Amino acid sequence: MDILPASALTETQLLQAAQILSASLPLGWPTLQAAWEELEELLASGGCLLAALEDGVVTGLGGLLPPDYDGRVWELHPLAVEASRRGRGIGRALVTALEDTARARGGLLMWLGADDEQGETSLSHTDLFDNLPRRLASFDPGRHASAFYMKLGYQVIGVVPDANGPGKPDILLGKRL
Ligand SMILES: CC(C)(COP(=O)(O)OP(=O)(O)OC[C@H]1O[C@@H](n2cnc3c(N)ncnc32)[C@H](O)[C@@H]1OP(=O)(O)O)[C@@H](O)C(=O)NCCC(=O)NCCS
Repeated sequence: MDILPASALTETQLLQAAQILSASLPLGWPTLQAAWEELEELLASGGCLLAALEDGVVTGLGGLLPPDYDGRVWELHPLAVEASRRGRGIGRALVTALEDTARARGGLLMWLGADDEQGETSLSHTDLFDNLPRRLASFDPGRHASAFYMKLGYQVIGVVPDANGPGKPDILLGKRL
C-alpha cells in the first residue's frame, strides 16, 4: 500500500477519492460532485489530503482541516475506505499518516466528529442533557465508526446533541499526538 499526498495524485486518482467519499458517506456527500467540491475546498483552504493506493488505484482517503489554536489542534476530516477494501488496515494506515503529518507540524491534539445519524451508538435517541457524564462513561459504539477510532487510541471528548436531527448526535473523539 502507498500513501500519497494530493499533490502526487492524478486527476483520475482524485476523482477515485471523491467517488469513495460519496459512496462511503452518502448522507454527507450524496453526489460525486458534492464530494469533489469537498476535496477541492479542503485543498484550497490549506488543508491536507492523503490517499491510500494499491497498484495506482485509490482505496481510501483521509484529510486534515487547517489547524486551530495556533497550530496545536488538528481536525481529521474526512476519512473513507472503499467498501470492498475495509478491514485490511487501510483506515489505520491513513489515520497514522495524518497523525504523523499533524505532529510534524507542531500538532498536540487530533480530534474529529463522528456523526451518529443512524442510531448506531448508545448516545443516539437519548436525552444527552440528562446526566451526560454517566452516558459518556458507559458509551457503547456498537459497529459505528467511533469504534474504529477507539481502537486507534481515540477517546470520546464530547458530544453535540441533535447535530443531525433529534436524537442524532455528533460524537467528538480526540487523541493526544
Ligand atoms: C471507518 C473506516 C474508515 C475504517 O477503515 P478500515 O480500513 O476498514 O479500518 P482498518 O482495517 O484499518 O481497522 C483498524 C481496526 O479497527 C477495527 N474496525 C474497523 N472498523 C470498525 C468498526 N466499524 N467497528 C469496530 N471496529 C472496527 C478493525 O477491526 C481493526 O481492528 P484490529 O486492529 O484489531 O484488527 C471504514 O470502515 C469506512 O470507510 N467507513 C465508512 C466511512 C466512515 O464511516 N468514515 C468515518 C467517518 S467519521
